[in-house]
Amino acid sequence: METVVSNTAAKNTVQDFLPLEGTDHVEFYVGNAKQAAHFYKTAFGFQSLAYAGPETGVKDRASYAVRQNKLTFVFTTPLRSQNVLADHIYKHGDAVKILALKVNDAADAWKQTTIRGAKSYLEPYTLTDEQGEVILSGIHTYGETVHLFVERKNYTGIFMPGYREWKSNYNPPSTGLLYVDHCVGNVGWNQMNPWVKFYEDVMGFRNILTFDDTDISTEYSALMSKVMSNGNGFVKFPINEPAEGKKKSQVEEYLDYYDGEGCQHVALATADIVQTVTDLQNRGVEFLKIPSSYYDDLVERVGHIDEDMQPLKELGILVDRDEEGYLLQIFSKPVEDRPTLFFEIIQRKGAKSFGKGNFKALFEAIEREQELRGNL
Ligand code: FE2
Repeated sequence: METVVSNTAAKNTVQDFLPLEGTDHVEFYVGNAKQAAHFYKTAFGFQSLAYAGPETGVKDRASYAVRQNKLTFVFTTPLRSQNVLADHIYKHGDAVKILALKVNDAADAWKQTTIRGAKSYLEPYTLTDEQGEVILSGIHTYGETVHLFVERKNYTGIFMPGYREWKSNYNPPSTGLLYVDHCVGNVGWNQMNPWVKFYEDVMGFRNILTFDDTDISTEYSALMSKVMSNGNGFVKFPINEPAEGKKKSQVEEYLDYYDGEGCQHVALATADIVQTVTDLQNRGVEFLKIPSSYYDDLVERVGHIDEDMQPLKELGILVDRDEEGYLLQIFSKPVEDRPTLFFEIIQRKGAKSFGKGNFKALFEAIEREQELRGNL
């Protein structure tokens, strides 16, 4: 059953105790940051932005920041084995560690969330250089994932203190990726509602959509999901948990291979999904394949769309409609060897939902991959 919270009047009278300006950056802990950054430049069209490591006074790690429009990814690797980052990579593989959120007041964000029960990851901490100051604070969320609050209103530098500009002779063109649309977390059995409560109580988010196992099930497997959104809608975190089916849920497979709860996918927005996905495929990004029968009755299901059907069908782009418009979306295969993190590419044309009408086709595609891995 799908429930849209419509009590906007009540929402508007309550002050948002955690005003968020959007996603600041996503930081990945990886086995080889230099090569990961190269991959995201080559395959996804990011540009070199900033570097931190021994040469900039950071002794235990190296970090590469890359940017494309409003998207900033940071790839960080430990330089020695005796290091918490190394432990993280040993356990989870290459993974999203930090979902960093831009705020106007990082000290207040930390205070407001910790007094409401968040476990502190980083007390408010000021970094300074000649370009000004960045104040960071952070709290733990599901698994070993962290939300960092980044206050950069008094900073004019390239990324943040500790980093220097990273100039490269290799600058592949953009693929038109614009910003983070949403980030999905996979949590354990019966853990969705506790994490929904965490986002409600600790961060002031609202549950804007709910999908139960009758919405998200195939012949074989099931999952449940609730979409959490902050007050202004800039930050959306759907939370998935596995549900009982005849066979193993894709969320269970993730939890097994990730060895715990973590970020399942990051959805990246584009204004021209056909062009973006064509570019990404030509650069080697692999996407889930959808049977061509999906397109046979597409127009009956979603009505008129601006795009030509043929390129959508060739690329495997999915379409769904809600009361406010439609959206186009496609899902990559996992971007590392463990069947864990993947990306969604999404173009919204009015729709604010998440492609409920595509769940069955999508999950059947995921199951075909799961089966090939022997994990269904
Ligand atoms: Fe998604």
